[in-house]
Amino acid sequence: MSQKAIVTGGTGGIGFHVAQQLHHHGFTVTVIGRDPGRGADAVRRIGGDTRFLRADLSSLQQVRELGARLAEEGPLQMLVNNVGGMWPTRWETADGIEAAFALNHLSPAVLTEALLDALRAGAPSRVVEVTSSSITTAVLDGTPTYDDVEQAGEYVGMAVTGRAKLAHLAHTRQLAEDLRESGITVLTVDPLGPAAAATPNAAAMTPEILPPALRHLWPQIQGGLRPASESARPIVAASVDPALDGASGLVLGPDGAPSEDLLQFVTPAVSASVRALTRRVLAA
Ligand SMILES: NC(=O)c1ccc[n+]([C@@H]2O[C@H](COP(=O)([O-])OP(=O)(O)OC[C@H]3O[C@@H](n4cnc5c(N)ncnc54)[C@H](OP(=O)(O)O)[C@@H]3O)[C@@H](O)[C@H]2O)c1
Repeated sequence: MSQKAIVTGGTGGIGFHVAQQLHHHGFTVTVIGRDPGRGADAVRRIGGDTRFLRADLSSLQQVRELGARLAEEGPLQMLVNNVGGMWPTRWETADGIEAAFALNHLSPAVLTEALLDALRAGAPSRVVEVTSSSITTAVLDGTPTYDDVEQAGEYVGMAVTGRAKLAHLAHTRQLAEDLRESGITVLTVDPLGPAAAATPNAAAMTPEILPPALRHLWPQIQGGLRPASESARPIVAASVDPALDGASGLVLGPDGAPSEDLLQFVTPAVSASVRALTRRVLAA
């Protein structure tokens, strides 16, 4: 029987290419997205027994419903938590949660939790998280703290996303530790480093996503957008490379090699405060 993979945001951007490449590696792929038209198009373009499931992953209720539905389907070998991103202006999800924190941290945390039994049953299996070097921007913009969902100060999209990505990286490191003997390998990929890829999310950017001191770099960033297909490669490598079996907790850079660049910011204080905040928000 073929191996099953789920790719969130698998109907467009980087996730579409991850889904397509996983299909070429022999996986039966489920792509998740909000728009049925884009879903149908992705299924047609990927081909085979690919399927689309609709969910708005900014809604924790929809994440939980999706997780329950997928969990009922039994053993799972691959979960790629790809949905995430950044926005030029602040917005809140239907749950009243700041969107970057919801989509880059809470949503993948809840989906993964819902699928742990299926991933255990499908072992050897993998969870692959997609991060970004916006973490570095968040640290340069000020020390990220996690007393609450949002940190006081001006909304700067890249820094707000970086803070959420750092929360998720700290969460993922803990998960990797907790699952060490489970047969589930948990990896994180920074697919672009300081570069950016041409995706729907990137197309919605404006210079205001950058801290004021970095806005002069905008034309350079826009001029150097990489193809989304290329950005998918390290994510796919993290998903299928047998050498990474059991290598839980690693962060792999755009070249696929382990990197400490982002992990250096996961301090014990960050991990403890993220754990407490995540528990508190998800229990509310
Ligand atoms: N682009 C970059 O330069 C870059 C750089 C570093 C890291 N990354 C990371 O790579 C990942 C993918 O980035 P991307 O730029 O490809 O993102 P994207 O352009 O937003 O990805 C589009 C895909 O995500 C789906 N999607 C978006 N919002 C969704 C939601 N609320 N619920 C369900 N599906 C949703 C879209 O389908 P629908 O619109 O139909 O929902 C589509 O399938 C993110 O984690 C991002 O942080 C990106």
